[in-house]
Amino acid sequence: MAEGTRCDYLTFFVNGKKVIERIVDPETTLLSYLRGKLRLTGTKYGCGGGGCGACTVMVSRYQTQTKRITHFPANACLLPVCQLQGAAVTTVEGIGSTKTRLHPVQERIAKAHGSQCGFCTPGMVMSMYALLRNQPQPTLDDITEALAGNLCRCTGYRPIVDGCKTFCENSNCCQLNGKECCLMNGAKPVENGENDFPELFNKADLLPLDPTQELIFPPELIMMAETQVPTTQTFCGERMTWVSPVSLDEVLDLKSAHPQAPILMGNTNVGPDIKFKGVVHPVIISPTRVPELFEVTRTPQGVSIGAGSSLAAVRAELESLVKELPEEHAELYRALLLQLGSLAGPQIRSVATLGGNVVSAYPNSDLNPVLAAGNCRVLAVSKGGRREIPINRDFFVGFGKTALKPDEIVLSVFIPVSKKGEFVRAFRQAPRKENALATVNAAMRVVFSEGSSMVHEISIFHGGVGPSTVYASKTCKQITGKPWSEETLNAAYPVLLEEMCLPPSAPGGKVDFRRAVSLSFLFKFFLQMQQKLHIMGVAQQGLPENMRSGTEPLPSQLQPSYQEFQGVPVGQDSRDPVGRPLMHRSALSQATGEAMYCDDLPKTEGELFLVIVTSTKAHAKILNIDTTEALKVPGVVDVITAKDIPGKKFRTFTGITEELLAVNEVTCVGQMICAVAGDTKSYAKRGAAAVKITYEELPERVFTVEEAIQKQSFFQPQREIWRGDVSEGFRKAEHIHEGEIRLGGQEHFYMETQSMLVVPVGEEKELNVYLSTQHPAYAQESIAETLDIPSNRVSCHVKRIGGAFGGKVTKTCILASITAVAALKTERAVRLVLERGEDMLITGARHPVLGRYKVGYMNDGQIIAADIMYYTNAGNTADESLLVIEKILLHLDNAYSIPNLRGRSTACKTNLPSNTAFRGFGVPQSMLVTENMMNDVALRLGRAAEEIRDINMYKEVSLTHYKQMFDPLNLRRCWQECMEKSSYQSRRKDIDQFNQLNRWKKRGISVIPIKYGVGFAEGFLNQAAALVHIYKDGSVLVSHGGAEMGQGIHTKMQQVASRELQIPSNLIHISETSTNTVPNTCPSAASFGTDANGMAVKDACEILYNRLEPIRKKNPKGSWQAWISEAFLLKISLSATGYYRGPDCDMDWEKQEGAPYAYFTYGACCSEVEVDCLTGDYRTIRTDIVVDIGRSINPSVDIGQIEGAFVQGLGLYTMEELKFSPSGVLYTRGPGQYKIPAICDMPLKFNVYLLAGTQNPSAIYSSKGIGEPTLFLGSSVFFAIKDAVVAARRDAGMTGLFEFHSPATPERTCMACATHFARMVPESTASSVQPWAIESP
Ligand SMILES: Cc1cc2nc3c(=O)[nH]c(=O)nc-3n(C[C@H](O)[C@H](O)[C@H](O)COP(=O)(O)OP(=O)(O)OC[C@H]3O[C@@H](n4cnc5c(N)ncnc54)[C@H](O)[C@@H]3O)c2cc1C
Ligand code: FES
Ligand code: FES
Repeated sequence: MAEGTRCDYLTFFVNGKKVIERIVDPETTLLSYLRGKLRLTGTKYGCGGGGCGACTVMVSRYQTQTKRITHFPANACLLPVCQLQGAAVTTVEGIGSTKTRLHPVQERIAKAHGSQCGFCTPGMVMSMYALLRNQPQPTLDDITEALAGNLCRCTGYRPIVDGCKTFCENSNCCQLNGKECCLMNGAKPVENGENDFPELFNKADLLPLDPTQELIFPPELIMMAETQVPTTQTFCGERMTWVSPVSLDEVLDLKSAHPQAPILMGNTNVGPDIKFKGVVHPVIISPTRVPELFEVTRTPQGVSIGAGSSLAAVRAELESLVKELPEEHAELYRALLLQLGSLAGPQIRSVATLGGNVVSAYPNSDLNPVLAAGNCRVLAVSKGGRREIPINRDFFVGFGKTALKPDEIVLSVFIPVSKKGEFVRAFRQAPRKENALATVNAAMRVVFSEGSSMVHEISIFHGGVGPSTVYASKTCKQITGKPWSEETLNAAYPVLLEEMCLPPSAPGGKVDFRRAVSLSFLFKFFLQMQQKLHIMGVAQQGLPENMRSGTEPLPSQLQPSYQEFQGVPVGQDSRDPVGRPLMHRSALSQATGEAMYCDDLPKTEGELFLVIVTSTKAHAKILNIDTTEALKVPGVVDVITAKDIPGKKFRTFTGITEELLAVNEVTCVGQMICAVAGDTKSYAKRGAAAVKITYEELPERVFTVEEAIQKQSFFQPQREIWRGDVSEGFRKAEHIHEGEIRLGGQEHFYMETQSMLVVPVGEEKELNVYLSTQHPAYAQESIAETLDIPSNRVSCHVKRIGGAFGGKVTKTCILASITAVAALKTERAVRLVLERGEDMLITGARHPVLGRYKVGYMNDGQIIAADIMYYTNAGNTADESLLVIEKILLHLDNAYSIPNLRGRSTACKTNLPSNTAFRGFGVPQSMLVTENMMNDVALRLGRAAEEIRDINMYKEVSLTHYKQMFDPLNLRRCWQECMEKSSYQSRRKDIDQFNQLNRWKKRGISVIPIKYGVGFAEGFLNQAAALVHIYKDGSVLVSHGGAEMGQGIHTKMQQVASRELQIPSNLIHISETSTNTVPNTCPSAASFGTDANGMAVKDACEILYNRLEPIRKKNPKGSWQAWISEAFLLKISLSATGYYRGPDCDMDWEKQEGAPYAYFTYGACCSEVEVDCLTGDYRTIRTDIVVDIGRSINPSVDIGQIEGAFVQGLGLYTMEELKFSPSGVLYTRGPGQYKIPAICDMPLKFNVYLLAGTQNPSAIYSSKGIGEPTLFLGSSVFFAIKDAVVAARRDAGMTGLFEFHSPATPERTCMACATHFARMVPESTASSVQPWAIESP
């Protein structure tokens, strides 16, 4: 752009208030504008790439042509603020507040317990709000579709859906409420309950939805649109000039002058490239106000849709055409609609454009194969003229490249109506059913000669099998002119396989799978057309009954779910909240966006932002760290290296040290080397990019467990435990079997990334540290040691955490220590908030495990000996790995009494980022191996796995393999109730029948028990303290050592204090967890937070209550406030500390015995799935969980933990995959590449039952810890898939054991089903070629 270009100002509205922005940097997104400039921090930053929905807002625009206002949800992280001219933005703060009036959406999601850590909640609220603005009475499908682009890592989605479905027209019918289900399940009035069927929330007293109360669209914007002639706008930033023209001619002039400038529409491709790939565009042309780009013209031949139309608008247009046109003419439109239904989420579809999708030419674009197969054309225009270009194989010329000339733009896309005898189908297989780019997709069009099954013409296009959309020309040639028959198709598959040729190193990996699924798609097309020809009377033979399953989609209709829990005992004071399903105490603030997370804290004067520079080599010597260029970057203030650390330069975990910042050597990609402090995040980022590190690569690199075993690369000590005599057991066993299973790692994917703010107080080296950690005392200790100052100078404050799951302990403390060094050195406040990609790269994950076992068993199914070896991939440092391998061994028996049992475990030292604690701490890995062993025995004996489990389960008071005594009564009860409540036996029969009748869909079922030890095996960690103040007005402030990370600990502590002080909960406040109120706390982990802190709070409250006794006795009818006033006058201290000295758990590894747990939580879970054998896709049809958690202090919180953990486990065992390059670089660094469960992964029916009539003398109010145990129950889905695969293999003529590792992704499932097509693909294990990713770390 010429110098001196005039810059315009921008006018838009946010929450009804006018915003005029005179200096707009085109690089600013709406999200950073809202959070930074307007201080509207309710809209959250989860990923920055449109993949998580945490930043969802509603955008409304007035359309002058139609005089209508449109509302749509959008990802604020991708929306350039420059595009907002004339728009009205509504954020979560704009729709309701706890201070004024809640919006019903906020209220209902909160009251239905749909908010745990709350970080996703504003996004959920806004997605639902946008839906309601367009559809005040949505259907259940509308709701699940509206929430498809929003991720939640805590809840498992069921309560969010339950809250939202109260807006459905028939929300009071039992179908939606699950009442029918409850009665169908034969639920009985609960023993001693005051309520026969207590419900988790009361639907009767919810605020009604009143559309007239909504914010109106600003009349001023309507006036502006109607009266002002739009003019070109230009915005100039430091690196980018943005031009928003208003006429087509102007666009073409600009494009001619700046052929390299992108035509920026939805910014869903350009935006992520700028953010993640560092692409800089000096000029951006954004023609979103050029009317010609949005024109839609219908003709008898088809429809021409303006390239600027959003995908949502395209969908609406096609839906309308499908309704209007005769069925036969709408073939292509229906195929496009199918793809549009699952393409991204609603936020993306609302802004991403048709032209953008076509021109982006993604290899796995969902639309391009259909447009190409459907003979569509683009109208390309430039200053030189216009031309129509067919979308065909010549149009896609390479990765992200089309046949457009640099100065051409796409004005519209012409989509023809289908002719008689022409049929189009589209197919898609993605790592997740919704909001995930396809792994492979395809579109196929066939034209039959009139009245016959002779193929006149066929076109087949695939996505995901090459650098661009691929035309299967040879296959088409092979089929053309032949009859549509099995014979024809059989001859075509090998040709297609050859055409779908991917080298073993192809980006994205999954090479064999992609090829197999391409064949499956053609087969599905064959089946669908065969059926069609039969219906048309052309083919005599229809599809055999059992083949139809190849044409049908997986079930997707959510069913009513049921949650059963005990009511409070008869006679419990109605004001006593213990045992009642109270809403999370911050749920309403979380739903209104008022809840403050670390990065929501206002910026302080002079505050700096810190960006970490990490290693790009897996193993190398650091030769030099050159910061010269970085320090020259404007806005960069300092670079922190290890030399700047005044105190301890390392952390020690389990006796092994880890450098805070690497000095001489790096041992993984992502290891922290230095940190750049800048005035802003973007300056610090630019500075970080300018740091030059010279390495000398070291030859020895170890990535996989196998390599570690070969090189004996282990952290010491290794662990071993046994009971009985394993050798003798094997000698006596009638059968011996050896097997193995692998389990991949798991990224925590807490929605709030690692965040901290260190503020120097300015005297005596005092620091206030605000951070998101599960272990504030450890952060304090780390910072003090790093800075070489006493701990009493460091106050760590944790208000709340946006999810943690074990990932916010060790690495958080290292990050906080580095940030504190920067703060001390610069004497300024320093903030560090990791980007999602940085977080995933640096902070490690759950340990991948290879489990190898030998099992000896008898003909009757009794297992008499087992020897299990666990290899964990610990990564480059020990972190907590040595504790993880211990916990693995402590749980290797799971629920089974195996008389001769030996376990060994080792932490492999590799050159991958160090793995760390993750919910379950090794137990989910340990027990998967055990359960797989059970499955193997069952398969070998030809019996149901559940029988083998039942036979071997602990049945009477027993000793574990480490000699801790326990009573498995409730384990057995959970197991039996689970079998009954799930109607296992009858469903097993139904499933067998289903599987006989369906060749291409198989169902599977499994029931998994769990016995989970609660508490820290390191007994000293089983302690807690609390500080309770009563103020003169009677209000109470409770502080305790537990950090609130969504698990509801503050809510439970409030309940405890309320009961003990006998005052209403609303008099009790919990502000934060801090080291200056309660010192020397233990981590909020091991499912022990409530047990320990609850007892401490109870203790403090009892002390205070007893102190008030004389006053209470004197004035028994007095009010609480009166007693407190009196106590103050009588000089009675109204502050008390409480302390809980927990159980002295211990484990002596020398003697191999101990009592490492306070008690056990038991449960059982039955899951049923349906698998599409042709693609490996699956759906969980039903899950029933029965858990013994004693007497629940808060059933809604506990059920929330159970459901959330289960779904996280479902992710672990069936979806989530970390992928590393052959040189150890983590590929999966965001929601785009790493898929956690979304709403589409919820079991269709999801029942939870808390075991009735149980007690637990070992914990507060007879409750039990539940944070971690049920994660393992997600493995029931894994084993159900495996069960379905067994059925598929049987049909394929294969019986017996087979390799099936976790996670059971569609890839693994499809290949294991061993269909004809999967078996046609020769294995791509050419040893000379490096695969795209490390196969199994
Ligand atoms: C989270 C996420 C999930 C996604 N999931 C899917 C999915 O499941 N399936 C799928 O197919 N896609 C998916 N996408 C991709 C998305 O559909 C495309 O990014 C989108 O369609 C591009 O349109 P846009 O308007 O945002 O393009 P922009 O980002 O604005 O522009 C992209 C490119 O297109 C060019 N361009 C745009 N319009 C024109 C025009 N009229 N003439 C000439 N050039 C033009 C620009 O110059 C630029 O190079 C996903 C994207 C995201 C961020
Ligand atoms: S932060 Fe915008 S989608 Fe994740
Ligand atoms: S409540 Fe959804 S991410 Fe925590």
